[in-house]
Amino acid sequence: MKKPKKIGILTAGGDCPGLNPVIRALVLTLLAEDVEIVGIKNGFKGLINCDFMPLDEKAVERILALGGTILGSDNRTNPFEYTIIEDGKKIKTDMTQVIIENLKRHEIEVLVCTGGDGTLTVAGKLSEAGVKIVAVPKTIDNDIPGTERTFGFDTAVAIATEALERLHTTAWSHHRIMVCEVMGRTAGWIALHAGIAGGADTILLPEIPYKLEAIVAQIERSRAKGQLYTIICVSEGAHQLGGEVSVARTVEGSAEAKRLGGIANILAAQLEELTGEEARACILGHTQRGGEPTPFDRILSTRYGAEAGRCVLDGDFDQMVALKQNKVVRLPISFVAGKTRTVPVDDELVFDARSIGVCFGDC
Ligand code: F6P
Repeated sequence: MKKPKKIGILTAGGDCPGLNPVIRALVLTLLAEDVEIVGIKNGFKGLINCDFMPLDEKAVERILALGGTILGSDNRTNPFEYTIIEDGKKIKTDMTQVIIENLKRHEIEVLVCTGGDGTLTVAGKLSEAGVKIVAVPKTIDNDIPGTERTFGFDTAVAIATEALERLHTTAWSHHRIMVCEVMGRTAGWIALHAGIAGGADTILLPEIPYKLEAIVAQIERSRAKGQLYTIICVSEGAHQLGGEVSVARTVEGSAEAKRLGGIANILAAQLEELTGEEARACILGHTQRGGEPTPFDRILSTRYGAEAGRCVLDGDFDQMVALKQNKVVRLPISFVAGKTRTVPVDDELVFDARSIGVCFGDC
């Protein structure tokens, strides 16, 4: 295939640190080959409304360490069920043809989609409809199959680890149980990594349903050894054996209808009741997604952006860039779209943590 003259890039879904370095690396890689790059604002919404901005060297100057995304993002737009008003009524319509027309009209030959599982699913369907796609996996959750790492994860783990370390000293002073809730949806990667790095006594993952008795038993064991405080790192999607995940809010019509959150409050109250000790909850929420990417995430994002640029130049479409044994590789989008990579219950890190006495709430 001939080298494209013009391509577009969008960032969709929840933001995460590292999006700007991807944009920068893609732009610098392609500008060097005289390919024009258009930034599509606010995810797929910008593609439907033709909300574009030119991306040149000036536009990507000094964005390497900048959190968020200079393009804006949107996790509410599903282009296949897009709400429009017709005769005063809200109706859902498939915008695939509108997107194809808009790309044609603006001579955008390839679309680079940076996003999580929802974005990859949309990208996969657009590719089936004939759009030339290159995908870049992002999410703090690290739950995309086929890649050992998504950028944003390392930064989220660093933030959660620092928070756990800070909770240690206050929990120690007051002899309290501190329950720290981290993000991750149905995948416990952030809780597992931050829990280990932050020295949590108990780590609760969505993949390993917990029993309250097991957590209480761990607290009693540690008191018997003279430790007068407890640090628990709980993933927002964790739940009791036979119980439900804690939903903070259900928003109909949104891509993520169920907003998870609140398990730390529930657990802290239950543990106070069961142990007679004071317990406090700390929900880290979106602090894990904000601010500067770590050096690791800046490097990974740069590698992904540069490889996505090379996919464009090679004419290698319908591919997602990924990390395999620390090498950047390409995988068919169809291999990953619509799937989630959760923590295997026999993951080596789970095993190591158990060896040093970390409780996972199951025994
Ligand atoms: O997928 C990333 C993530 O941060 C999840 O960990 C979390 O459950 C969700 O997004 C929060 O989404 P929102 O920003 O829409 O509240």
